[in-house]
Amino acid sequence: MTTVLERVCAYVLKRTTPNREERLRIITLAKNLKQKVEAAIMEAGIEAEIGVEGSVAKDTWLRNEPEIDIFMRVLNTVPRKAFGTVYLKTAKKATYGLKQIERFAEHPYLECMINNVRVNIVPCYTVEQGEWISAMDRTPFHTSYITKHLDQPSKNEVRILKQFMRGIDAYGAEIKVGGFSGYLCELLILYYKSFIETIKLAANWKRGVVIDFEGYYDGVKEELKKIFKNHIIVVDPVDKGRNVAAAVREKKLNEFIAASRAFLKNPDLKFFYAQEEKVLDAEKLLYTMKARKSTLVFVMFGRVKTVSDVLWGQLFKSQRSLRKMLQKYSFKLIRDEVWSDEKNINMFIFEVGDRFLPSIKKHLGPPIEKREDCEKFLQKYLGAELTISGPRIEGNRWIVEKKREYTDVVTFITENLKGGGRHIGIANLLAKAITDYFEILVNEEILQIYSANDEFAKFLTKYLNGRLGWLV
Ligand code: CTP
Ligand code: CA
Repeated sequence: MTTVLERVCAYVLKRTTPNREERLRIITLAKNLKQKVEAAIMEAGIEAEIGVEGSVAKDTWLRNEPEIDIFMRVLNTVPRKAFGTVYLKTAKKATYGLKQIERFAEHPYLECMINNVRVNIVPCYTVEQGEWISAMDRTPFHTSYITKHLDQPSKNEVRILKQFMRGIDAYGAEIKVGGFSGYLCELLILYYKSFIETIKLAANWKRGVVIDFEGYYDGVKEELKKIFKNHIIVVDPVDKGRNVAAAVREKKLNEFIAASRAFLKNPDLKFFYAQEEKVLDAEKLLYTMKARKSTLVFVMFGRVKTVSDVLWGQLFKSQRSLRKMLQKYSFKLIRDEVWSDEKNINMFIFEVGDRFLPSIKKHLGPPIEKREDCEKFLQKYLGAELTISGPRIEGNRWIVEKKREYTDVVTFITENLKGGGRHIGIANLLAKAITDYFEILVNEEILQIYSANDEFAKFLTKYLNGRLGWLV
């Protein structure tokens, strides 16, 4: 008799594993592309070794999201600049006629689409292990490490784990997600042997999980924690100086731990396939927002021309600065979020208990035994323009009630964003966009955007619901 858990895993495996036909289609496509790139390289009279890398090479790709990674490995005498010029041009030539997008991670690469399959053509250097020049130089080493160590049954386990990460929205090392990369999933399976063992052990993970299966830090575990300041450390088997889990944010790590526990209690497909959020209609939305009796402030601004990772990095950094400012000025922040369509709209959302604070603010002075400090305090506040009431004594200290600089959260944000907001920690590219245009909408004023933009509507519905998707 099979258990529910086994049945769920078997179903997921079936849905995520490409069948023979699909496998053949992707592998043929990858081979053809590789040959085309090789031919274009020859024709251009330059040198590069072309290889298929990533999950297609490792046979760990998910059936409904095939993505082909083709790497051009070049000699270390080639200047980095050439990646963005001659190598990019050659990649374009090789894929002439396909839809092409120039992308940029640490350096430029080309993305194109062929029959609904995304293809990345990425330059990197041919190096000895450990002598990395560009960030992508490790990738061929990852491919060989995984192909060497991961057997067929383990590939199945990787696919189940990747799909689980997808289902709980924790898949991907990009900054927007801050989750688990494909390679990290592969390493977890190599270490724990199976999906279910990974889940069982993750359910008990404590702060500071360390996985170092090449034993690079045997006997010096403490050193490891000094080098990597992350909540989970998985030492890259091909590079002892790199934490494969460096991108995993604390929140995503904990969501994975919590989801693992819940899944063990109730193995269910919902952990693998998140249900589409049913968007609230306008009336329900307004009712739900109103019932909170809070103030939702939407700070909207326009296009920021940069790559996704930089955009999200800047959004998160600026969000932290704004959050700190609001707290410093005593606004009672309930929650804050960022949203972006990565095209035309970027948004910070701040939910505060009250839009307005009282005009007066209680300010604690020194305790009475500090004679000199008391004297200075009186000099400063007695009869001062900002003093509304006091000074007087409460218990053992001087007190004054003074005028608050900002009483309206909307004015507060507006004033500070004028001119871009660099002085309060808004990141550079965002500050530029904000200087050109920003708009603040409060509560129901968001309705128009909500009705016009499906993705935003999903986001806001999710926000108001606030519950992790896999919780019943
Ligand atoms: N890579 C990495 N760290 C990242 C992103 C990528 O080391 N944060 C390397 C890995 O060697 C990975 C390769 O780049 O195998 C390709 O990246 P990606 O396409 O993101 O991962 P895949 O393993 O191909 O997984 P997926 O199925 O998600 O495409
Ligand atoms: Ca890939």
